[in-house]
Amino acid sequence: MSTALRIAVAGLGTVGAGTLRLLNENAEVIAARAGRALQVTAVCARDRSRDRGVDLSGCQWFDDPVAMAAEAEADVVVELIGGSEGAAKQMVEAALAAGRSVVTANKALLAHHGTALARQAEAAGCTIGYEAAVAGGIPIIKGLREGLAGNNVSRVYGILNGTCNYILTQMSAGGGAPGNPVERQSFEAVLSEAQRLGYAEADPSFDVDGVDTAHKLAILTALAFGCEVDFDAVFVEGIRNVSALDVSYAEELGYCIKLLGVAQQVNGAVEQRVHPCMVRIGQPIASVDGVFNAVVADGDFVDTTMYEGRGAGAGPTASAVVADLIDIARGTVLPVFGIAADRLSRLPTLPMERHSCAYYLRLLVLDKPGVIAEVSAVLRDADISMESMLQRGRAQGEGEAVPVIIMTHETSEAAMRAALDRIAGLEATLEPPQLIRIVDF
Ligand code: NDP
Ligand code: HSE
Repeated sequence: MSTALRIAVAGLGTVGAGTLRLLNENAEVIAARAGRALQVTAVCARDRSRDRGVDLSGCQWFDDPVAMAAEAEADVVVELIGGSEGAAKQMVEAALAAGRSVVTANKALLAHHGTALARQAEAAGCTIGYEAAVAGGIPIIKGLREGLAGNNVSRVYGILNGTCNYILTQMSAGGGAPGNPVERQSFEAVLSEAQRLGYAEADPSFDVDGVDTAHKLAILTALAFGCEVDFDAVFVEGIRNVSALDVSYAEELGYCIKLLGVAQQVNGAVEQRVHPCMVRIGQPIASVDGVFNAVVADGDFVDTTMYEGRGAGAGPTASAVVADLIDIARGTVLPVFGIAADRLSRLPTLPMERHSCAYYLRLLVLDKPGVIAEVSAVLRDADISMESMLQRGRAQGEGEAVPVIIMTHETSEAAMRAALDRIAGLEATLEPPQLIRIVDF
């Protein structure tokens, strides 16, 4: 067997420690597949005294990840710190400048700087492995870059954040019949549990506000359509406004609520959007629950393909990091986004206002005669057709608040936003109306 691949790892938290554990426990099968041993020679984290549950005795310790990336006795550098700027970015740039390939799980970094880093890597004759950055343990980067390489991909979408899917699943399993919503506390409690399990980002608002899904979607878009990574073009809406009431009404209407990232090509432009969606129960993606993620990609020759697996946590993410390391040990060097970075195109963006779909609306209005007629008139004036309306029971006394649920037929986002502005301005409307887009895949 040839000489070992020497690896320097920065970040020894959930993913870093998980990676070291996997490299140690599965060393034999990994060496057989890579054709050589994979040996961690250097590590770096902030707190040297912390017990990571892994043996670091044979590794050189660095306090400074940038110094490690440039100076460690290593062939490849693994960045598992996180963040789009600061130490993570500097150490990746330093590793590439030293001619070392990089493996990272950092979707924020690639969403903001992916094209520039890909150019730097390719100019240096090295590569950036980032299987772990999208959908945890699902080999979707390999799937798109290699498995579907012969196809024109027209659409890619999926559940890309394990924390949000875990929260929405728990809200659903937790119940809360229509009219009897579970306390807001339950959202916070479930988020804490996701943090304890190692699923959430260092700043969990990245998860619940949809930013993490948008980071991953921007990467998938570049890979699927051969274009530059354009995070700023992604429309982003998270799950904070999804209430237990919405979850239970969705179930009653035959749907579940999922946070989806969707990228598609429409007449030469690219639409990238992240928002909660009502997905018809029975659709394959509707049954993807808990920390699981799923990605669907449509190619012109392969047709629809779907990939499912755990989207977060130490084991699945380490699995993806190690797959990249094995590729590098084998000498596989592919263009980072499947096409040479200098040949990635710049496609125009389709603005969200031009999106069109059916909508679920939740209003909180005064329970008194004429209110529904006023709401209906606004929708009529905006040329929005109602599919159904639900108002359960009555408020305790006339003039008190009652939730009203409206399902619409397909309309444009621009028309819907204008109508909701008018509904929000009605005297009988007590809180900003909430909308959830209904998808029909
Ligand atoms: P953690 O917070 O658990 O670990 C971060 C590690 O980075 C810690 O070991 C920390 O050191 C170290 N670190 C932070 N700042 C510095 C610095 N300036 N210099 C040196 N070391 C530093 O994060 P995760 O392991 O959860 O995430 C790591 C990356 O993986 C992120 O990019 C994340 O988005 C990504 N990711 C995470 C997944 C998950 O399920 N958790 C899944 C997929 C991707 P110390 O321990 O001493 O504080
Ligand atoms: N916080 C992310 C998630 C980690 O919950 O999906 C995996 O990228």
